Amino acid sequence: MVATAASPREGWSSRSAFILAAIGAAVGLGNLWRFPTLAGENGGGAFVLFYIGCVFLLGLPLLLAEIFIGRAGQSDAVGSIRNVAAQSGVSTRWSLFGGLGALAAFLIVSFYSVVAGWVLYYVGVFGMDLLQALLAGDPFRGALQGQSQEVIAGRMGNLFASPGLLLTMHLLFMGATLFTVARGVSGGIEKAATWLMPAFFVLLVGITIYGAVVGDVGEAVAFLFTPDWSKLTPEVMNAALGQALFSLSLGVAGIITYGSYIQEGTKLGSTAAAIAIADTGVALLAGLMIFPIVFAVGLDPAAGPTLVFQTLPFAFEAMPAGSLIGFLFFILILVAAITSSISLLEVPTAWGVGEMGWSRHKSALIFGAGAFAIGVFCLLGYNVLADVRPLGFWSIFAETDILDTVDGFTGKIMLPLGALLASLFIGWRADRRLLETTTGLSNGMFMVWRFLLAWVCPLAVTIILVTGLFPSLL
Ligand code: PFF
Repeated sequence: MVATAASPREGWSSRSAFILAAIGAAVGLGNLWRFPTLAGENGGGAFVLFYIGCVFLLGLPLLLAEIFIGRAGQSDAVGSIRNVAAQSGVSTRWSLFGGLGALAAFLIVSFYSVVAGWVLYYVGVFGMDLLQALLAGDPFRGALQGQSQEVIAGRMGNLFASPGLLLTMHLLFMGATLFTVARGVSGGIEKAATWLMPAFFVLLVGITIYGAVVGDVGEAVAFLFTPDWSKLTPEVMNAALGQALFSLSLGVAGIITYGSYIQEGTKLGSTAAAIAIADTGVALLAGLMIFPIVFAVGLDPAAGPTLVFQTLPFAFEAMPAGSLIGFLFFILILVAAITSSISLLEVPTAWGVGEMGWSRHKSALIFGAGAFAIGVFCLLGYNVLADVRPLGFWSIFAETDILDTVDGFTGKIMLPLGALLASLFIGWRADRRLLETTTGLSNGMFMVWRFLLAWVCPLAVTIILVTGLFPSLL
């Protein structure tokens, strides 16, 4: 299990194992919680179509670039970039962006685990409710029966007010993530993905069909796919671009790390396309799962981050079999979240193994414990440390609590910066022959890919970065 310099490098057992693990990394809270939230807040159609454009023009080329770096570099993120740079005859200082990515992944997993902890709590709430429904001999009743809307809405507030409860959920989730990462690539990560991802798809399709049967699917489709281009403001475009990067796990070197475990000879272009299509498909299905239910019970699609946690429980209350579906729904989010958090923790862990020579166990423990500690500050930011504004001196973070600051700092600054450096490195500096032979792209596809990386990605990502840092420019 322990990868030392002398033992052979760990790897996926097959191409499909890599695809499943990479889809597991990409599909997460970003698809099931962040995408519907943003689509709802930003008016639906125009946001969704612009987002799809971003995924394929920007995300897909970057995804292929990161897979390439891992496959050709055969090391952790930093080591892989260093190796590709050395083989291309350019400065190995480019590897710094791998370190930046590993740091971003470490910071992201700290708050990701806190949010996943909320999901875990809701699994518990709906699980207890389902149990009661079963004991009452009525498994197909609505959820949380007999409770007033105030009580249901207040649930989130109660959770946030309780450091002990938040801490317990965060500890459980981070513990499970750490346990899997410590077990290694084919033993831990791959096993988790090959079991969990098929279960995930069955649940996703099942709940979407349920939503279509009992909900208002026509209104949801119209909302998600009819563009009102006047709504496409620079802020909305910025949000869509950022969401595309986050959802495909780009800019944090996660895909570089996973790509380094791919076997030689794997066709990288079609692999990247499969991942991008699956990730986007899940985001759209999540929209088609959530909005019919939201519209059927007359809820506001623009409810914001609470859409999933606060509004949907109302919907499940009013729907047949709501307690069962509510329970399955939160399990679905939990499964998606854990396969993503595993990939996040894997990035610094692989760095510790590859660069510091630590054993996998030691490295996973150091970074898992460190991220847990930062997460504790994030969750205390909702109660004990509610007044703390870590970057309060900076106007864009003046009002943001601890969790949102870590989220904003990584999402608005570190992630676009990582993506920008990756596109410049591959678009301009990496050796052309190495790129051609490793990716196996046809000549035409290769030209398009390199053009997108050299020109389109840097420009677009610079716009996200600059508008994110200086919103007054918009
Ligand atoms: N793509 C994940 C999501 O959509 O939830 C988040 C993520 C996972 C970002 C892994 C970055 C990463 F390396």
